Amino acid sequence: MKLWAGRFSKEADERVNDFNSSISFDSRMYRQDIAGSIAHATMLGEQNIIAPSESETIIKGLKSILSDLDSGKLAFDPEAEDIHMFIEAELTARIGDAGKRLHTARSRNDQVALDIRLYLREAAEGLISQVKELICSLCNQAEQHTETVMPGYTHLQRAQPITFGHHLMAYCQMLLRDIDRLKDAKNRMNVMPLGSCALAGTTYPLNRERVAELLGFSSVTLNSLDGVSDRDFCIELAGAVSILMMHLSRLSEEIILWCSWEFKFIELDDAFATGSSIMPQKKNPDITELVRGKTGRVYGDLNTLLTMMKGLPLAYNKDMQEDKEAVFDAVDTAALCLKTMIPMIDTMKPIPSNMRRAAAKGFINATDAADYLTRKGVPFRDAYKITGTLVAQCIEKDTTLEELPLEDYKALCGEFEEDIYQAISLETCVKGRTVVGGPAPERVKEQIAAVRAAIQEE
Ligand code: ARG
Repeated sequence: MKLWAGRFSKEADERVNDFNSSISFDSRMYRQDIAGSIAHATMLGEQNIIAPSESETIIKGLKSILSDLDSGKLAFDPEAEDIHMFIEAELTARIGDAGKRLHTARSRNDQVALDIRLYLREAAEGLISQVKELICSLCNQAEQHTETVMPGYTHLQRAQPITFGHHLMAYCQMLLRDIDRLKDAKNRMNVMPLGSCALAGTTYPLNRERVAELLGFSSVTLNSLDGVSDRDFCIELAGAVSILMMHLSRLSEEIILWCSWEFKFIELDDAFATGSSIMPQKKNPDITELVRGKTGRVYGDLNTLLTMMKGLPLAYNKDMQEDKEAVFDAVDTAALCLKTMIPMIDTMKPIPSNMRRAAAKGFINATDAADYLTRKGVPFRDAYKITGTLVAQCIEKDTTLEELPLEDYKALCGEFEEDIYQAISLETCVKGRTVVGGPAPERVKEQIAAVRAAIQEE
């Protein structure tokens, strides 16, 4: 029999029950639902809205349900419409009439808004600590490779010399911004909606601030319609998670390239790669491909949420029940990707000799040759043109700037001297880029120290 049996003359059709039910996916919020109910019952008792003794009975009952759900002694009833109805019904079955008073001055509309906020607050915290772990792994790898020269790319064409450490640290900057966004989303969702009730608040003398305090919220929502119809916090979190996934996907794409025989800049640990059922030689970077693939799925979750909300009149509409699967999938997927990527990064083996070999081809020191002339007073645009001509000559002779004889340099510009070879050595090129944020080893060591300090701060 449904809770609303009084108004209805018929049971709901079985197909309606199945269609309407959310317990298969909102049961994961049982701890939050019970915590919210305990805080609500505490406040109802303190305000004498229900008898303090009944409040105590309710809290005891809720605690026993919590421990039975935790231990697996009590199973969710798939017939229940949602987690809120399931727990209320179970409470009344356990403690009798007092249980029927729990829902005084509350609606499932503000209850579900509370539960999701509590759940996502924790989920955001979990993601933040995982992102910190990934940053640590990247810093540890980067620290070993502050002198490992590799080509930096633009348009995926070899461009200028950098180090592997510098390259990895770029991802740490992205991930630090992800932490900021996750924190921001978490702080903005930390507002307590109970007391909004169905949509119009209540005539009972609630103490909403007390409930907020009991549940660790920083404030209470200030409009009852908004309190029950706002899902910005789901969208913001899914947005932050989408950007995080985009970063993981870009890193994955690079790892995929670096693992290929075309690059062979790194070797993944065998435990973090897969083979082929037919090609005996294959070692595939499936993890990174899956991360790249799952990124699209998280974008889909964000799009689900945005689209779900765009046409909804105030206040609650059942469309909003669709929020949970999307936002849960986004946080679950990101957590899963991070969990697998962290040890993969820890165990991957960079191959400096291959990076160095790639750096030696492709004229990535051409800018430095032009800068050499500029330092000798040649205007940069002229120096650029002279060096371009030298590169063309090298291509024609199948040689490199390092191997081109000094006569060939001098034939184009009298300012070239023997020290050009020192100036265009890749090690000089990297070490000379001491600008703040640059790839010079001492700058990268500073970057690593600053990033490590930033994640330890909180
Ligand atoms: N299961 C519902 C949801 O997730 C709870 C709120 C139901 N409210 C209502 N008025 N039917 O949105």
